[in-house]
Amino acid sequence: MLLQELLGIDEEIYFVEESYLAQRTLKRTLDYLKGVRKFAEEGQIRLLRVREGEHTLGILVFNQADEEVPVNFWSVFTGALAETRSKKDFEVLMDSLLAFNLPEKDIEVSSESWRDAVNEYYSLMLVNRNLCEGCSVKPESYESVFSENRVRRVAEVFDILQEKGFYPEGKVLEVCCGNGMSTIALYRLGLDPLAVEINKCAVCQGLEQGVLNPRKTIVMDATTLSRYFEPGSFDAVMGFMLGLVYEFNKELWIGIMREAVSVAKEGGLILFTVSSKPEIEILARALLRMGVEGEIVDNTDSEGTYDQWFFVGRKQKA
Ligand SMILES: C[S@@+](CC[C@H](N)C(=O)[O-])C[C@H]1O[C@@H](n2cnc3c(N)ncnc32)[C@H](O)[C@@H]1O
Repeated sequence: MLLQELLGIDEEIYFVEESYLAQRTLKRTLDYLKGVRKFAEEGQIRLLRVREGEHTLGILVFNQADEEVPVNFWSVFTGALAETRSKKDFEVLMDSLLAFNLPEKDIEVSSESWRDAVNEYYSLMLVNRNLCEGCSVKPESYESVFSENRVRRVAEVFDILQEKGFYPEGKVLEVCCGNGMSTIALYRLGLDPLAVEINKCAVCQGLEQGVLNPRKTIVMDATTLSRYFEPGSFDAVMGFMLGLVYEFNKELWIGIMREAVSVAKEGGLILFTVSSKPEIEILARALLRMGVEGEIVDNTDSEGTYDQWFFVGRKQKA
């Protein structure tokens, strides 16, 4: 696991928060840390500090095996993904803890590697069925789930983008990645997207099949992107086979468009594919209203199913 590699430890590691999303509000972290502080005041705990420069990204607290939990493990507390208020509360608690209890190791890690390690941890928890009690979903074979034709279809969209001078580069976000069918094409094209998807089972399947990169995949509702990423965080935001988009449910998809645009940089690439013309017209109208300049592209083929229409454009200056 990347965390163990980064920190140079062999023992088991557990995050206090039960999901990536819970890292935003740090409810458990703040409660537990208050408890830990009492022991820290007596200098009784073993601590590791993870930092980037002078900034503390997280701490690990050692838990000695006992009758209840018969293995040694480290509990991880981090404020690195939290919203401003919780991050401040975390830092105050952290400082008071470190004032009483010097860490036995101070480990320098870039905030990017730390994020990757946190993502990977939750991906592994998901794929090992630790986040879904009583899961009875059986793994399927790669061939029964993934289709080379579909992957090729996505790759062909990028051939057209190249011709039109819209090829993505830099930090890429893929929304609604499903089980990673479209993400496979992005990886093969040399892109390294952060992939988000609301459906845990789809993400789990993609991780299980080794399709999705566990360090770059997050279970997340794409209508809430701006809660987790700063405005302008990505050079390109894309999504494949969104929908079905109808008049009656279009607000959901327009919400995803709005969030996608908000986390894209000015000049950033915006790309969405769908199955039908009415769907892309709904998305394109919304994107143009949000200040994205671009065009609808007819990509229809004889099969008439996947990525038949797409919108590609760039976010304009506000
Ligand atoms: C038709 S699938 C496409 C999956 C993948 N992009 C592909 O091309 O194979 C659409 C995906 O959008 C996801 N989705 C729908 N609403 C979402 C939301 N609010 N946030 C994130 N993903 C969402 C669905 O769970 C589904 O996996």
